[in-house]
Amino acid sequence: MTATDETMDSATTEETVWYHTLDLPAGPTPGLYDLRKVVGKLPWPDLRGLRCLDVGSRNGFLAFEMERRGAAEVVALDIDDPADIDFAAYRPRHGFDQQDLDNGSRAYELAARALRSKVRRHALSVYRLTPDAVGTFDFAIIGTLLLHLRDPVGALGSLRKVVTGNLIVNEAVTPSLDLFRRRPVAEALMYPGMPFWWLANPSGLRTIVAAGGFEVIDTGGPYLLPNGAGAPKRTLRDCFTMPVRDIPRNLVKLRGDPHYWLLARPGREE
Ligand SMILES: C[S@@+](CC[C@H](N)C(=O)[O-])C[C@H]1O[C@@H](n2cnc3c(N)ncnc32)[C@H](O)[C@@H]1O
Repeated sequence: MTATDETMDSATTEETVWYHTLDLPAGPTPGLYDLRKVVGKLPWPDLRGLRCLDVGSRNGFLAFEMERRGAAEVVALDIDDPADIDFAAYRPRHGFDQQDLDNGSRAYELAARALRSKVRRHALSVYRLTPDAVGTFDFAIIGTLLLHLRDPVGALGSLRKVVTGNLIVNEAVTPSLDLFRRRPVAEALMYPGMPFWWLANPSGLRTIVAAGGFEVIDTGGPYLLPNGAGAPKRTLRDCFTMPVRDIPRNLVKLRGDPHYWLLARPGREE
């Protein structure tokens, strides 16, 4: 990279909308979320020499992490076409329009270039994963995506076709429903205009992953996935909005989003 490239890159990175906080040579990006403090707590197997998949990669934080951990090849899967999102019937007001998807992929490309990464980005919906389309993977991770999918079990079923080894699911959960503890429950999150479908409690998430064809080996959390420097600045006052049922979630969101992780492996074929 020449000095001019570096100057251009730092100018462009400043204008970019970042989802992930990424440690680039020019400094950390102001992401909406900062996974740097929590990524080491996920149950990573030894990735050296493995072919790995990051599903719903956004700016690539988890894909770059797998590359850093010695994966032989990493594929960062995301979508570029709003027709592939799961909100055909009612468009979200926030996120997942063409501009939002372009922001995600542009930021990924900038980061990959700055990190001199060999990760390969592949634009394809998780539902369309097949061995013919992408080959098979020794390891995969899917992070904060199931809540955006109308059919999370179907998406995991597609993933099951291409993953031969372990899978980490690192997903948003609703700890409030965990009052039910052992009962697998999920909240319908189809608020008009919002890009969400379901939010399960940890037990519900385990059930969804098992229904998608995986055997859960280990779990951890719930824990808070921290906001990054680019997260909207909210005050305590901003949390007390209607509907009242959202107030506890708003309060938690002052610091981050509750998440839960599962380590799984392909279950036996029926
Ligand atoms: C909330 S971000 C999560 C980013 C990252 N996985 C993480 O854990 O930080 C969800 C990403 O999934 C992508 N996505 C949405 N629907 C998808 C689909 N059907 N197939 C693949 N990716 C999808 C979005 O474009 C977005 O980049």
